[in-house]
Amino acid sequence: MIKLVKTGFQKENVVSYGNMFLIGNGHLGYRGTLEESDSSAFVGLNVVGFYDRYKKLWRESLNTPNPFYVKVGNSIENCSVFENNPLSHSIQLTLNEAIFSRKTEFKSLNISSERFISSTEDNLLCMKFTVIAKEAQTIEIDLGTDLNIWEINGPHYKTKKIKRNQHNLIFVGRTNENKFLKMDNRYCFENFDYSYQNGIFHLTTNLKQNEQRTIIVFSKIVENCSDFEKINRFNSRDYKYLKADHTKNFDEKFNNARVIIEGDKEAQFELDYSIYHLLILENENYSHSIPARGVSGQTYKGAIFWDTEIFMQPFYILTNPKNARSLLEYRIKTLNGALEKAKSLGYEGAFYPWESQEGKEMCSKYNVTDVFTNKPVRTYFNEKQIHISADIVYALDNYIKYTGDHSILNQGADIMMKEIYRFFKSYSKLKNDQYHIYDVIGPDEYHERVKDNAFTNYMIDFVCETIIKYLKDDKIISEVKEFKNNLFLPPIRKNTLLIEQFKDFFKLEKTTVEEVRSRLRHPNEYWGTKHGVAAKTQIIKQADVVTLLVLLSNKFNFDVKKANYEYYYPITEHGSSLSASMYSLLGCEIGKIEDSYKMFRKSSGIDLGTNQKMFAGGIYIGGTHPASNGGAYISVIYGFCGLKLEDDTLNFKANFPKSFKKVKFKINFRNKKYFVELTRRNTKVEEINDEN
Ligand code: IFM
Repeated sequence: MIKLVKTGFQKENVVSYGNMFLIGNGHLGYRGTLEESDSSAFVGLNVVGFYDRYKKLWRESLNTPNPFYVKVGNSIENCSVFENNPLSHSIQLTLNEAIFSRKTEFKSLNISSERFISSTEDNLLCMKFTVIAKEAQTIEIDLGTDLNIWEINGPHYKTKKIKRNQHNLIFVGRTNENKFLKMDNRYCFENFDYSYQNGIFHLTTNLKQNEQRTIIVFSKIVENCSDFEKINRFNSRDYKYLKADHTKNFDEKFNNARVIIEGDKEAQFELDYSIYHLLILENENYSHSIPARGVSGQTYKGAIFWDTEIFMQPFYILTNPKNARSLLEYRIKTLNGALEKAKSLGYEGAFYPWESQEGKEMCSKYNVTDVFTNKPVRTYFNEKQIHISADIVYALDNYIKYTGDHSILNQGADIMMKEIYRFFKSYSKLKNDQYHIYDVIGPDEYHERVKDNAFTNYMIDFVCETIIKYLKDDKIISEVKEFKNNLFLPPIRKNTLLIEQFKDFFKLEKTTVEEVRSRLRHPNEYWGTKHGVAAKTQIIKQADVVTLLVLLSNKFNFDVKKANYEYYYPITEHGSSLSASMYSLLGCEIGKIEDSYKMFRKSSGIDLGTNQKMFAGGIYIGGTHPASNGGAYISVIYGFCGLKLEDDTLNFKANFPKSFKKVKFKINFRNKKYFVELTRRNTKVEEINDEN
């Protein structure tokens, strides 16, 4: 059993533990809060891909009422950790089984509970809650569905109705967009007297010393549909079987994806933790892809960013290609949204949303708030982060190369690529016989509206190359060739070997991250936009040129990689969790292995600390960081194990940090599965049966 355990109760950790102890099934996420918590502790059962807008506030994914509300008391004390210091308290997450549990000891009784979101049954959550009396007592328990929902931009339910049918509570919520969310919450309890009011059963019973009572709760969630399978069929005995099915299935997934690192227990644990987070996002029937904060809540509106294609998808390509394909299908299915976005801005072709909800652009024009005036600040992520369309083509090519699945091309990916090309062509400006890409934002979001961002231009070049490689339409290919041949690519400077991040970047003030930080007047002040502290300096938010050198690694030689790594490393603030893994990967290519290791640990440990960045420009951005988890996985497989696909063959090269002795893992490649074992000296790659 691989466990994350925290002991003791500290109120200040409630929000970060909510993220850290999250459980999920790719569609639902339940935060790691305690049963007695209410919305003020950010209790969240989040439904990814089910969105609503309240008035003019940001449209976001929905949280539901909390089906697992339990609060215990007796004549001796109130048994809530928020109101009474427990004698002992611990929470635990088993990473290979995806089960959250707690144990709390009060003076007069002990509480234990466990919960999971089934990985085998559709949208079913289960909880078991036990109290044991340490002395004879009359115990009182409030149990039920808490209708007070934690919402960032709510309220999202115009009406919330809850109906009792014996031990089942049926919730029907009608959203502002007139969609329905239904929950059937079944509360199995015996040997209690009870009354009921507004979602809550009030239970009482007399317990002798050492006597215990167990309550089982099942919760089934259905959105957008009138049919509703009731869960009366479950009774408390089913809990055991449902749990066994779920744990068996999750454990298999976990062992299939797990990477064993011999020699470094801390790295092993953090990577296990990262893989856990990527697995609770798996869902082979995505209609909604994976949001930047996974299933941990409403941050970033539950929307889909480039995080999915560039940072998470490589994990799924190697461990569960079906899942990887369904992420691409989301983009193919939402092509219309991209066509509409381009058209609305006066361009042709497909400009994918920077923040996609069902394919529609949800990125606000005012993405941050001025912490001094509380006024929204104009940002241009929506209109100018055009690299998103190229990132999707990059992910498509990666998928095809590793899976050999070309069928996706004539199932919509071909049209998608052509439309993406048409967009870039229409966005470009012809000047002195060269196509330039003016007025964009690259990955470094602190510098807005720049000209010829190297990352963007080279990625557009890559789009052209990919079209030429896969498509058979001569007309489009000759057009694409003409564009590609004349596309301006920021050059590698002769003396320094540097690539300028964008036109005139090197003319900006060269300073340090510390110096820029010291210019802040408020800790949550936003560094970007034209008024931000970083804007007129070379201090960048996240890997930009470095991301280019990683993604298009075979286009640049060792010396170029080294020179740019050394230049950009000290001027990167790593204000985005996406940054560290790119430095880790490039560091491995140029022999800066121990620095790579630090960056890898920054990615893998991101949600294990309690000091995450929770606010940017006054906006709450807390939650889990699956792109960073994906970044940790690729840092190990592509970085420390040096995976490269060359001439249709998988090659490995150990770039191990000091602490690694051996690395072992399984990967899928072109319909086959392989077991890989690497030491500094030897590489073993063996084909295996799926059952292994
Ligand atoms: O996609 C990222 C972006 O690169 C930096 N800001 C946060 C986004 C979501 O993670």
